[in-house]
Amino acid sequence: MAIRIEPLTPVFGATVSGFDTRQPLSAANRAEFLAAFEACSVLVMHDQPLTDAQQIAFSESLGPLEETLPGVVGAGSKIVRVSNMLADGSLKEPGGRLALFGQANLLWHSDSTFRAAPAKASILSARQIALQGGDTEFASTRAAYDSLSETAKRRIDGLVAIHSIATSRRKVDPRAVSAEQEDALPPVPQALVRRNPVNGRKALLLGSHIGAIAGLADDEAQGLIDELTAIATQEAFTYRHVWRNDDLVMWDNRAVIHRGHPYDEKTERRLLVRTTLAGDAPTVVAGRIVDQEGGKYDVG
Ligand code: OGA
Ligand code: MN
Repeated sequence: MAIRIEPLTPVFGATVSGFDTRQPLSAANRAEFLAAFEACSVLVMHDQPLTDAQQIAFSESLGPLEETLPGVVGAGSKIVRVSNMLADGSLKEPGGRLALFGQANLLWHSDSTFRAAPAKASILSARQIALQGGDTEFASTRAAYDSLSETAKRRIDGLVAIHSIATSRRKVDPRAVSAEQEDALPPVPQALVRRNPVNGRKALLLGSHIGAIAGLADDEAQGLIDELTAIATQEAFTYRHVWRNDDLVMWDNRAVIHRGHPYDEKTERRLLVRTTLAGDAPTVVAGRIVDQEGGKYDVG
């Protein structure tokens, strides 16, 4: 049976239906699904109740998974528990490090750009949604890149930004990151513009993990990031997902940034479970941007 694909916005995103993620995808459905993912960047699937094991099995059928970073609930496993609850269901201490760490999800970001090979895709399963708030919003950094003038594209095409987990967490609170996390995840370089090797489409690589741009003064770098983020997050390039229980949403971290919206973490209980498809390769190797059109840029 062919899968159904219905656009969510004129620019990106689609609802896909006609299959059950608890069952292995047929080769034909898997190919259709991956083609929709590459084309649409955000795929929404309703009515997909999953256990952790089923979510891992579905995700691994699409590619190898990242291991969850240290110092968060689910560390060392293939599951991230995006929640105001601990694994035993009790609430995280308000203002404590785990709660503060999670607050950084409210800033626009692309998952795992603090890793040398940043995440390809994230797959998020709504196990228990908030009664009020807690939407997740996406912005197309591909549409943003495409909208730039040739001059603006030339200005940014060879730039390299420095990303780290400590940078995004410090934007929330200096206590949000632990020494163990900083040691395990030192800053990494990432191309500011990346090209998708499957379809050749380029996108901006933005988000809260960025602390600097190589060769630019801090205020100039911040100005440029703010300018590009404003372009990417204009309404025409965004989609805001209002969760239903058992939704499964998969997004392309190479083509969108995302952020959570607040909810009352002291009274509500929200649990989304994430698996993350690992990236294929670093975007920068030995100071050179890889995977750009026509080979490599020397960024000195
Ligand atoms: C994530 C994330 C935002 C949210 O799971 O990677 O950023 O709304 N989630 O929970
Ligand atoms: Mn995220």
